[in-house]
Amino acid sequence: MSRKRTAILISGRGSNMSALISAAMAPDYPAQISLVLSNRPDAKGLERAAEFGIPTAVVDHTGFAGDRKAFEQAIDAVLNEHRIELVALAGFMRILTPFLVNEWAGRMINIHPALLPAFKGLATHERALAEGVKLHGATVHYVSAEMDDGPIIVQGAVPVRDQDTPDTLAARVLQVEHKIYPKALALVANGKAKIKGTQVISGADAEETRELIWP
Ligand code: GAR
Repeated sequence: MSRKRTAILISGRGSNMSALISAAMAPDYPAQISLVLSNRPDAKGLERAAEFGIPTAVVDHTGFAGDRKAFEQAIDAVLNEHRIELVALAGFMRILTPFLVNEWAGRMINIHPALLPAFKGLATHERALAEGVKLHGATVHYVSAEMDDGPIIVQGAVPVRDQDTPDTLAARVLQVEHKIYPKALALVANGKAKIKGTQVISGADAEETRELIWP
């Protein structure tokens, strides 16, 4: 089995990155983490990746004077240098232009801390609490031109408790994120998560595409 060479793009602490790296340590996991790239030189996740022995790279967006395409061309060049086949965005906090999205169409996935299509954008936990939803969660999806859109690969749900704050809810959602991201990357790397129109037909068992945590 050839394991798909995968880059993880981060901007911060990289807990989802660590979950993916840990999953990919299993010999039968269909992806190998070949690069961790950050747009922020001070991202904590870079240190963690280096501790795991994963090559790291920084493409600092502040060095491109607002030229987003040039920033993305620089990222694309690093990905190609490392012969990357799949890209997993894990808390990568830059909005992408059509350039990078098109270059990696069908080969780039993202995790979003909400049950899409609800709560696209930022502050998802605050907004979920403000709306009084009873279930919240996270989604891994293929990246498309629209932000937090694109065919859904795996979703995970958690209960919202009456006494939750954005922080307690975020912590519960993070647990489910760490479960669904490795599942989703595996489905993409082993070719099961096929895009059909606006949806993913995975042919996978229900458990591989859904996660419920009821702590
Ligand atoms: C995660 O909760 C991820 O879902 C979210 O950022 C956090 C990164 O945490 N992503 C987004 O909000 C993307 N719009 P991590 O660095 O510990 O993985």
